[in-house]
Amino acid sequence: MKKRVFIVDYGSQYCFLIGRRLRSDMGTWCEIITPNELSTLTHDNASAVILSGGPKSVYSVNDADDVEVKRIINDPAIPVLGICYGMQLIAKCLGGTVVRGDKGEYGHTTVARVSSDPICHGCEVWPIVWMSHQDVVVDPGQESIVTIRSEAGIAGFTNNERKCWAVQFHPEVSHTKCGHQILQNFLNFYHIEQNTWNSSTRYEQCKQYVQETVRPNDFVILGLSGGVDSMVCAALLTKLLPPTQWQAVLVDLGIMRQSEVNDVQKYCSDLNIPLQVVDRKTECYTKLANITDPEQKRKIIGSLFIDAFKDTSLTLKPTILCQGTIYPDVIESGRSKSGTAATIKSHHNVGGLPQNMGLTLLEPLRLLFKDEVRLLGLELGLPKVVVGRHPFPGPGLAIRIIGEVTAEKVQIVAAADQIFLEHIHRSNIYDVISQAYAGLLDCKAVGVVGDQRRYGWIICLRAICTEDFMTANVYPFTIHWLENVSTDIINKCPNIARVMYDITSKPPGTIELE
Ligand code: XMP
Repeated sequence: MKKRVFIVDYGSQYCFLIGRRLRSDMGTWCEIITPNELSTLTHDNASAVILSGGPKSVYSVNDADDVEVKRIINDPAIPVLGICYGMQLIAKCLGGTVVRGDKGEYGHTTVARVSSDPICHGCEVWPIVWMSHQDVVVDPGQESIVTIRSEAGIAGFTNNERKCWAVQFHPEVSHTKCGHQILQNFLNFYHIEQNTWNSSTRYEQCKQYVQETVRPNDFVILGLSGGVDSMVCAALLTKLLPPTQWQAVLVDLGIMRQSEVNDVQKYCSDLNIPLQVVDRKTECYTKLANITDPEQKRKIIGSLFIDAFKDTSLTLKPTILCQGTIYPDVIESGRSKSGTAATIKSHHNVGGLPQNMGLTLLEPLRLLFKDEVRLLGLELGLPKVVVGRHPFPGPGLAIRIIGEVTAEKVQIVAAADQIFLEHIHRSNIYDVISQAYAGLLDCKAVGVVGDQRRYGWIICLRAICTEDFMTANVYPFTIHWLENVSTDIINKCPNIARVMYDITSKPPGTIELE
């Protein structure tokens, strides 16, 4: 098996970014694993190991859990880079000392280079870096050389004997101006393969996986939502399988955006994607009547999807279910299984459907990050409006309507949402915003339209910018811009009395309303 870089995920919010930097900036293939999987690494499969940051303190972790880290550090054929918590872990494993710092360092921090070690080669925009730590390394362990310092103490060290490099700050985030250079220095210094992960290897990897999984007698069913991931899966299957061997199925529960079902039908017909739309709107509204708890809504919608798939399968008789699961979904589900992160919502249906249906699972995108999925989609001929789409949650408008979901409320929120998005497109800011939508609050307010009092619903607009959807900032529209949208919505939607703009970042808010 080909050697690759493994990133051990200790729960840092930036862990995915390390992977994305390596793959997209350096063309280096890497995989993210949980600490439990460290025991599977050897110098035959690992060209290097990166230990990520994480929320724990190294001394709250059992010494027994360090055994595998020590084994990797002591393997002379495996270079190791420790970032933040990863640096503290290396120091501990090398017999050094980590203590609780007085105040910690968070955000932009100034550091100074204190050795001529290659870790800092070419770092011209030194010395501002991005820190996020409370614990401090006070002794980096035997034979280690301190390379970088900050006010709090040691900010970087190397141990040439053990091929270990360590930095307290985050080279993977864009705030660390020389971060790219540091990662590149690590790969260069230890001769780790670069520029080999590109559009053709990405496509070949997906193709090989599909061809190895789908046998001539198989029939594949693909759950199509119209979102980027399932559309890219559909484009891939169109290229790799004959139309007689697979079927895309879109379950319409009446909780999609306005004209979404029609749009998806059009894209599919343009691209020769075999699509069947299963209409379950009435059943969905009946089952959601009087349901106000968001998790219950999610469960009902999830089981409606499964039922619709099962019914469709009776006629199609598939043997394989294709899902647009992508790498962050896989990592998140591994994190919650291994306890490195809490499950906040039941978003991730990785592996949910097939167990229920007895089908083999086909997830061609399961090793790709979102930006890689988009690039693959473009290469497969999907239009930019499809691959550039904002994410849309599986439970759709149901979790953007606080309280009970009814056909009337869906129609109201979808109309407002459409107007909001039209304004965003007209202002040419759709691609700058990561996700935007209109939600509906569970209460009414009074207004005056012309000479009439209007008692109507309250719309809550939300628009955020984010790199990874784990944290997000609110998009800073001007008040004038928002006023225009509000006027347009109230003029065009007779059931709406007020429009609000949600100014809560994430955290403490989430992106969706429920
Ligand atoms: P939150 O609301 O947790 O959202 O900040 C983060 C991202 O996840 C999407 N999301 C969902 N996607 N089923 C999904 O398929 C869900 O139940 C769900 N809830 C949130 C959300 O749209 C955002 O992109």
